[in-house]
Amino acid sequence: MFSGFGEPCAGPQPHYTERLSLIPIGPELADELFRLHQDPGITHWYGPWTVDDACERVAAMGRAWQVDGVHKWLAYDRATDTLVGRGGLSYTAEHRLEIGWAVRESLWGRGYATEIGRAGLDFAFGELGASEVISFTETHNRRSRAVMERLGSGTTGTSRTAVSRSCSTSSEPTSSRARYCRGRREAPRLRRRAPAAPAATTCMQH
Ligand SMILES: CC(C)(COP(=O)(O)OP(=O)(O)OC[C@H]1O[C@@H](n2cnc3c(N)ncnc32)[C@H](O)[C@@H]1OP(=O)(O)O)[C@@H](O)C(=O)NCCC(=O)NCCS
Repeated sequence: MFSGFGEPCAGPQPHYTERLSLIPIGPELADELFRLHQDPGITHWYGPWTVDDACERVAAMGRAWQVDGVHKWLAYDRATDTLVGRGGLSYTAEHRLEIGWAVRESLWGRGYATEIGRAGLDFAFGELGASEVISFTETHNRRSRAVMERLGSGTTGTSRTAVSRSCSTSSEPTSSRARYCRGRREAPRLRRRAPAAPAATTCMQH
């Protein structure tokens, strides 16, 4: 690909964390994404994906990386090159940045999802200049909610004074889902609002 000024344009680039290589998902990773979505701990929440499902998803993700400059990564162990999971950012229909994660069940309990999430927040608040990132999960997905809460008290924000934002639930799915929002700037605090049953709504604001 070329920029029009004679310089080659870099496509989506990998990110690196302490333990993980985060590779932008595109069509060339269809097999890997399909394999990941055969993992029992992941199919429990997402249902089983077919090859066609994986192909459709990677095509859409590849397009989003080209158009929006962001979408999900596949995560590999930097030391062993083992597939760990996937995660990262994507835009909702309302053009809000949403973050998510999925890790192979045999690798749960090692902080990989939190590491992916932190990289996603750094990307959002850094390169993308976002002011907030939202996340959803089923209310009973205790592990995913724990990741969101760990990230809310993490160090991804800057030290600048923050602007409070509320997490409107008006146009987002709420039924039986927990919803989180992470602003960019200040020391996080957790505010819980009474949800419309059975959804739990939690908004971490700055
Ligand atoms: C949601 C999911 C990614 C969470 O995985 P997880 O392993 O629980 O989360 P983390 O990778 O952040 O690991 C946290 C655990 O590792 C421990 N840990 C070890 N080293 C750690 C480190 N360096 N940093 C953070 N936590 C660490 C934590 O203490 C915590 O342990 P605990 O579960 O005993 O409390 C996983 O359950 C999953 O893939 N589920 C299926 C897909 C899914 O539901 N995705 C979300 C859809 S919204």
